[in-house]
Amino acid sequence: MRITVPDHAGTDDTAPSYSGPEIDLDTVDLFDPALYATGDPHRIWHTLRRQAPVHRQTLPDGRSFWSITKYHDVNDVLRDHTRFTSSRGTLLSILGSQDPAGGKMMAASDPPVHTAMREPLMKVMSHRAMKERRPQIRRIVHRRMLAHLLDGGTWDIAAAAADFPMAFTGTLMGLPERDWPRLTKLTSMAIAPSDSEFQEGSAHGTLVAAHHELFDYFSRFVRRHPGGDDDLVGFLIGMEAGGRRLRHDEIVFNCYSLLLGANVTTPHAVAATVLALIEHPEEYARLLADPSLVPGAVDEGLRWSSPANHFMRYAVRDLELGGVRIKEGDALVTWLGSANRDEDVFPDPYRFDITRRPNRHVAFGFGPHYCIGAPLAKVALNILFEEIVRVVEEFRVAGPVAHLESNFVAGIKHLPLTARLRPGAENLLREALQDGLVAV
Ligand code: HEM
Repeated sequence: MRITVPDHAGTDDTAPSYSGPEIDLDTVDLFDPALYATGDPHRIWHTLRRQAPVHRQTLPDGRSFWSITKYHDVNDVLRDHTRFTSSRGTLLSILGSQDPAGGKMMAASDPPVHTAMREPLMKVMSHRAMKERRPQIRRIVHRRMLAHLLDGGTWDIAAAAADFPMAFTGTLMGLPERDWPRLTKLTSMAIAPSDSEFQEGSAHGTLVAAHHELFDYFSRFVRRHPGGDDDLVGFLIGMEAGGRRLRHDEIVFNCYSLLLGANVTTPHAVAATVLALIEHPEEYARLLADPSLVPGAVDEGLRWSSPANHFMRYAVRDLELGGVRIKEGDALVTWLGSANRDEDVFPDPYRFDITRRPNRHVAFGFGPHYCIGAPLAKVALNILFEEIVRVVEEFRVAGPVAHLESNFVAGIKHLPLTARLRPGAENLLREALQDGLVAV
């Protein structure tokens, strides 16, 4: 998705404003995947936050959903499963139909089923557990990302980043390396079925084919798995939730969700943060001067990019939100990219500021479904940017930037770059690669 800055990005108390013709809210189409590849959702969200923070859109086929664009309303919806359920599905791609994973997959369940699945998993995916993976992730960063810098010439960092989470999640889940390229492609097909780069047949056909192959893959993988706690799939097989083991379909749905959760989001946090640092060289200069600012830069990159663009809920009863009456069964779509630019919460929200404090962004969601992979994603992103800062003096954009056509993932699929390395960086990289040759 394009991340644009309004004409007047206020540096004082005045709210930023966009010039140009007013947006006719009746014509707003936040469902259209093309908007996120070639349009400007920020312009629309900005208007919605001011004029209609809870706004209904009806599709030509009669299905409709409410768009929630203000930070506190988004949190309200995500936090409260007693009013807003996840069990009918959480993505616009299946608006109006019952999610077959409802009540079986953690992401598509409500407490207490959700809590029973989540609690044991949280222990093995905690920040502490993920910290132990730092050396392995650093090797992945060197081998799969920064090694490209030794080639000189142009490096498409977005394309490289697409393979990055597969390496650490694939290892965590115990998936064989030979399967990683296809799994990466399938997860892209599942979230951007109308993007010509990932399409196999029609958009609907692409989505169905991706789901079919992914579920079939995990079903066979789980059946062959010997069990044991050596990897996350084994852990899911042995895990007890609510006093019983998970059934086969529950294990398969959760494998799918874990892989998708990691693969489709993390690459876009990488590409968008690098692009933001190129477009704000003064912020990159601060990072070079003080690498301890990396965690703040990663968080600001997450706020800025908001790779998970939306999550959906259904109202479980008639209720009111932001002064608007919502009916039982209505779908509500929380736009995280909009919440993360809410001028009532983030002063000067269109400024990329690596020392922004506080920075309570909702890129990982909010409430009971807060991203369970956040500790892993943060460890990986922090290590990647620590290493980039160690070796890269300056990045320059070296070709057209291409955005993903998806209403679910806000992403950059191509970002060709050239890099000027820091003195001694080549040697540092070669040594690091030597050290990492034995393992991933
Ligand atoms: C920058 C990277 C990531 C972003 C921006 C992100 C974003 C999110 C968001 C917004 C949610 C909340 C969903 C909801 O409220 O319905 C979520 C949940 C989830 N994420 Fe992530 N995620 C990232 C990385 C990961 C990784 C690395 C994994 C797996 C290893 C993962 C697995 C999951 C799962 C399984 C859930 C469902 C949790 C639950 O329902 O309790 N994510 N993620």
